[in-house]
Amino acid sequence: MPDVAVVGSCMIDLITYSSRLPKPGETLLGLKFEKGFGGKGANQCVTAARLGASTVLVSSLGSDSNGQEYLKKLEEENINTAHIKTQENIHTGVAQITVTSSGENSIIIVQGSNLCLSGENVIEAKKHICSSKVLLCQFEVPLLATLEALRVYQGHGTSIVNGAPAVNNVDPDILRLADIFCVNETEAELMTGMKDLSISTAQQAVDKFFSLGCNTIIITFGAQGAIHASSKNKTAIHTPSETVKAVDTTGAGDAFLGALAYYISNHPGLSLQECIKRSNKIAAQSVTKLGTQTSFPSRKELPSELFS
Ligand code: RIB
Ligand code: NA
Repeated sequence: MPDVAVVGSCMIDLITYSSRLPKPGETLLGLKFEKGFGGKGANQCVTAARLGASTVLVSSLGSDSNGQEYLKKLEEENINTAHIKTQENIHTGVAQITVTSSGENSIIIVQGSNLCLSGENVIEAKKHICSSKVLLCQFEVPLLATLEALRVYQGHGTSIVNGAPAVNNVDPDILRLADIFCVNETEAELMTGMKDLSISTAQQAVDKFFSLGCNTIIITFGAQGAIHASSKNKTAIHTPSETVKAVDTTGAGDAFLGALAYYISNHPGLSLQECIKRSNKIAAQSVTKLGTQTSFPSRKELPSELFS
């Protein structure tokens, strides 16, 4: 029985390191290129698996060499791949990523095979999904599949939805069915219509999310940590993060969410704030290394107090 079921995306990350972002129409000389394994669904699943969770990933790859390599990689990470479908005649999802010398990133994704993930695929994986302690979803696959997963999972454990990348007018059923809805500050701005959202104005955003039907809400603020508000007392609580030297922030949000799923499933005695505090640490670690999944820590590299 898995601790964590992820219904989400796989993307091949094509990462260009550059001194800065190009201007429109400009050709820049980049510094370095790496191909890596990414996609928010797989990234979050890999994080949880490396921390020690048993995981299952429901996802869709293309039959191209990228898809074949990705399947092998997921197996090496000890992820249950029984519900990964391989699609003919469509490419595996790709992400064009630019990382600047200051550690900032910008990403364009082309979903490809991820668009083929269907409600039917979710139903086929129902047994695995419903026996998991945590269900984790994002917005990189068709939202109908996400909704189906949340419906099927209702009453079985804790569902976490990461509203990334940002989507306008999210189906209110998704917000209502998610036990925890988590977004970063820019995604929160888009969904609430607020400008210049900060820790000090977070309560306003949180109230807006509650009015949209959310239960527990988490907003991440990068180096400043995260705020959360539970459905019970609705007050925004700030959990700061330690400061680290940022080398590459790509995937830090995914490291946070994968860690959160790990802590909720494997350490049910911890408060949500303690889970957030520890997940901030895992995310901070990932920021100090280049790449996406290549920067996610595994249990043996981490201090033992994170697992007590
Ligand atoms: O969150 C980071 C991820 O977003 C990258 O791995 C890329 O694939 C995109 O999905
Ligand atoms: Na990183």
